[in-house]
Amino acid sequence: VDLLERYHAQPGRTVEMLAEFRDDGGRTSYDVVVEAIADLPRDARVLDLACGDGYLLAALAARGYSRLAGIDRSPHELVAARTRLSRDEAALHAGDAAALPFGAGAFDAVVCHMALMLMEQVGTVVAEIARVLRPGGVLVAVINRHCPDPAFAAFSRALAEVTREAGLARLRVGAPELFTAEGLRARLAPYASSLALHDFVVARRGSPSALWPCFAAMYDVFRLPPPAQAALEQRVCAAWCALGGEVTAAMGMRLVRVRTAGEALAP
Ligand SMILES: C[S@@+](CC[C@H](N)C(=O)[O-])C[C@H]1O[C@@H](n2cnc3c(N)ncnc32)[C@H](O)[C@@H]1O
Repeated sequence: VDLLERYHAQPGRTVEMLAEFRDDGGRTSYDVVVEAIADLPRDARVLDLACGDGYLLAALAARGYSRLAGIDRSPHELVAARTRLSRDEAALHAGDAAALPFGAGAFDAVVCHMALMLMEQVGTVVAEIARVLRPGGVLVAVINRHCPDPAFAAFSRALAEVTREAGLARLRVGAPELFTAEGLRARLAPYASSLALHDFVVARRGSPSALWPCFAAMYDVFRLPPPAQAALEQRVCAAWCALGGEVTAAMGMRLVRVRTAGEALAP
């Protein structure tokens, strides 16, 4: 928790990293969430759980959604979200996903981009999501997943080495069981009348120096002492240079779409 708090004291890092990674169709992982709820009426009540600096909420507001809310634990991210969004566009709340300050059935949809897997009390969080969704409501979440990729593998190898050399153990945050399809299903199935997973890949091509800041924005790089971060950058960029002048870095993503049991929302 302390690491995440310190990291998010500088808001917007997730967006800086992921808004430039796109799938084959040119969509970011944020766009994929927006598309996954496109069948909802524009007056649907939508909660962005762990909304960060409000980038996804702004994309939803631009699509015409008129009853948006966001919640995040980081006051710094929320200040950035408030700057991005007018009060009319979204209601923003400070709070923990494990104890949502909303009544039962308060939302037609909950969206959650790159955050569910960070939740320590994921069982409680999922129960809270189910509680605040009305019967027949939808949860749409994107989390990352392992995906074989040479540029990413070079980064992971160098990160493991540098972490060991710095005398640190591998970083574990949140709910690692969500990184397998089986683990995700086991957590969500008790609340679901339907549950669909869709795997996709987002990638970015660039020079090693253009790509490095995206990787430097990861929690396990951020927590390294500065000299170790510098050593990591050097090793990773050298490995990427050996792959060729320009590198394509790919990240595996998984879209989760759950409909809770109950009456379906009229289109
Ligand atoms: C990787 S960022 C993603 C932010 C945003 N959803 C995005 O994709 O740009 C993770 C966010 O989850 C928030 N967070 C982590 N655990 C939380 C919890 N238990 N309750 C509320 N917010 C939480 C952090 O403060 C942070 O803003």
